[in-house]
Amino acid sequence: MNDTASLTLRGVSRRFGGLLAVDGVDMHLPRGARRALLGPNGAGKTTLVNLISGALPLTSGSITLFGADVSREPGRRRVRHGLARTYQQSKVFSGLPVETNIELALIGADGGLWRALPGGRRSRARHERACRLAVELGLVEQMGKPAGALSHGGKRQLELAMALACEPRLLVLDEPAAGLSPSERQMLTDLLLRLDPDLTLLLIEHDMNVALAVTDSVTVMADGRVVAEGTPEDVVSSRLVQDLYLGTAHG
Ligand SMILES: Nc1ncnc2c1ncn2[C@@H]1O[C@H](COP(=O)(O)OP(=O)(O)OP(=O)(O)O)[C@@H](O)[C@H]1O
Ligand SMILES: [Mg+2]
Repeated sequence: MNDTASLTLRGVSRRFGGLLAVDGVDMHLPRGARRALLGPNGAGKTTLVNLISGALPLTSGSITLFGADVSREPGRRRVRHGLARTYQQSKVFSGLPVETNIELALIGADGGLWRALPGGRRSRARHERACRLAVELGLVEQMGKPAGALSHGGKRQLELAMALACEPRLLVLDEPAAGLSPSERQMLTDLLLRLDPDLTLLLIEHDMNVALAVTDSVTVMADGRVVAEGTPEDVVSSRLVQDLYLGTAHG
């Protein structure tokens, strides 16, 4: 692992009318970092991820991905730098089979590569790769079923398979454990622990058991600002963070 930064944020802000939802956030993720992004509801976590992925334009500040300034690049260009994300609300193609959803993610990720292969070989290889990912994500028994028929947990696993299909260098997950059963949470935790060590992970997660098991550093946001950063042990035991979480819906 070298120390090249995967992601650097400088003074990143986003205003919605009178509300500064993200307010001057600085963040530096070295390659291979596993960072939890914590904070109470409305802290600005999802908005920050939308700014990183290019789903929302910045009001001010700059974003560097693997050394390239992407502050003004649209989301699809950021994907080419190796960024993949999942959403707080699952986004899958409900009417299409599980493996077809993954194949579509592969097509999106590998346009150049797949175009270079003849049609038949291209679709067979892609189908096999999609099936391998489905197996890896514990979706083997769901293959052939429309994605809309999956349980909530199954849809989240599928979304993660679709993100991993892009072979990302930076993976950003927005509450992947939300709504999962305890066994699905364990499976997710195991999967995140098995990720390539070179991959950088930014994980929004209210489930501290999941968040702290798979990350080695923590950023805490409140009211759009970073209010704490450090090791999981330091941050979680800090008075400030305990106060922030006390009485919030997620406890
Ligand atoms: N598109 C938008 N237009 C206007 N306000 C928005 C928009 N998106 C988010 N906000 C506001 O910005 C603030 C931060 O919201 P955000 O969704 O980023 O919080 P969060 O930390 O992800 O919260 P949660 O833990 O509930 O997911 C909230 O006050 C929210 O209402
Ligand atoms: Mg959110």
